[in-house]
Amino acid sequence: MSTAENSILGLIMPTDPRWADLASVSLEEILTDHAFCEQKAATQCISLIQLYPDKTELINALSPIVTEEWGHFRMVWAEMKKRGYLMGPQRKDNYVNLLIQHTPKNLHRDDKLLHKLITCALIEARSCERFRLLSEGWEEVTMRNFYYKFMVSEAGHYRLFIDLAEQYYPVEKVRSAWKQWLEIEMLVLQQLAPRGDRMH
Ligand SMILES: [Fe+2]
Ligand SMILES: [Fe+2]
Repeated sequence: MSTAENSILGLIMPTDPRWADLASVSLEEILTDHAFCEQKAATQCISLIQLYPDKTELINALSPIVTEEWGHFRMVWAEMKKRGYLMGPQRKDNYVNLLIQHTPKNLHRDDKLLHKLITCALIEARSCERFRLLSEGWEEVTMRNFYYKFMVSEAGHYRLFIDLAEQYYPVEKVRSAWKQWLEIEMLVLQQLAPRGDRMH
């Protein structure tokens, strides 16, 4: 992905160029991890709706995303079944776990929401960038198209989380939190060696 495309997504650190090559070693491994990521994306939206039942705009915006993310899981699972792959045991997402450890502690729930929305946007932006790499790198045309669809969809989710944050907080506050999280994400990525069996 070019620097210009990364800047559309707002990311400052491009993915390690070795990652797409590592991912291409085993479609089974990368699809399995992707399936777990989509499950987590759906449950994260459900959990935001459960935590903030007083925020009507949030419920309106995120309830269709739950359906969409679950649809993504079903698309990945269908591809896995077609190829005879199994889900296997649950996997830890070190990237997401390390990232959310940086959420400031002891915040009021209304202030915590800003960080939750920004980290969701960040994970969507990073996923979008990685789907782009997979959509360009795969030899099989059906898999290129498969990953292209995810890239487009996750780009929309990235925008949606930013827009939602801007509904509840001043634009300047959202921008400054986004910048802060980009720096954190850069440090997290630097801590993690690129793995072909992980989406992140
Ligand atoms: Fe998704
Ligand atoms: Fe998403």
